[in-house]
Amino acid sequence: HRHLLGTQNLSRGDIERILDLSERFIDQNRQANKHRTDLYGRTQINLFFENSTRTLTSFELAGKRLGIDVINMNTEVSSTKKGETLIDTAMTLNAMHPDVLVVRHPDSGAVDLLAQKMDCAVINAGDGKHEHPTQALLDALTIRQRLKRLEGLTVAICGDVAHSRVARSNIHLLNTMGAHVRVIAPPTLLPTGIARLGATPFIDMREGLKDADVVMMLRLQRERMTGSFLPSVREYFHYYGLDHDKLACAKPDALIMHPGPMNRGVEIDTEVADDIHRSVIREQVEMGVAVRMAVLLLLTPKQGNGGPANG
Ligand code: CP
Repeated sequence: HRHLLGTQNLSRGDIERILDLSERFIDQNRQANKHRTDLYGRTQINLFFENSTRTLTSFELAGKRLGIDVINMNTEVSSTKKGETLIDTAMTLNAMHPDVLVVRHPDSGAVDLLAQKMDCAVINAGDGKHEHPTQALLDALTIRQRLKRLEGLTVAICGDVAHSRVARSNIHLLNTMGAHVRVIAPPTLLPTGIARLGATPFIDMREGLKDADVVMMLRLQRERMTGSFLPSVREYFHYYGLDHDKLACAKPDALIMHPGPMNRGVEIDTEVADDIHRSVIREQVEMGVAVRMAVLLLLTPKQGNGGPANG
């Protein structure tokens, strides 16, 4: 693969290769000296048209820890504000010979379109409600670290599935890896055709959580809702907020996950989010750096001999 635009077209072998390589960076990222030189001298541009805390920071750290020169484009002050089209922005950046472009955009499909115009590797950091592949990969790495496998696990993805690129990327990846995927949402936030994607839909949260190994919560994406469905927070939390009572339906040691940003008291109770044994929300963030290092390394092979230079 030249780009990473989604998880839909990744094979089991592709996913295992990325996760295996990611594992090699976990220990190094915990040490004082985190610097490697695998991709020394390469150029990475992070082009984010939507807010981000985790994805932008971890892509920047991942690039810098591999020796890449990383530039964060501030789209608030870029010329897209002066009417330049996305394609013209891409062509402009392409002329500066970056080696990798990491893009987040509010429109589904925008990153695929842009990738067609670039000579370098393009990584999708989230496009609309389409895909967020590195999120699904870091989620898979987190689960694999804790439960030692993905195959055969029951993973319940719960919340605003309709607007979630995280859900879509996870459904594809987890299916490819042989997990059983359930989605739990109010009818208005459950996209039609979800079963065709390979997920079993549930409206009742307790039924959907029954005997789940992993509970993955999603944020209510109010910014993507156009008036028709805006539930009250109280009502939403009552039916779909993860609290100890509902969590008791899942396996006793079920992992609690959330991609962030998390809205405490809306989709997740604060005590559950901070459960020191079962919540892996901070581990997800940690795995994000390792996964993004692996993806950068695999998509930007070392010229000449290929493979990592030091380790
Ligand atoms: N999970 C995730 O994509 O978070 P950010 O929006 O903070 O990058």
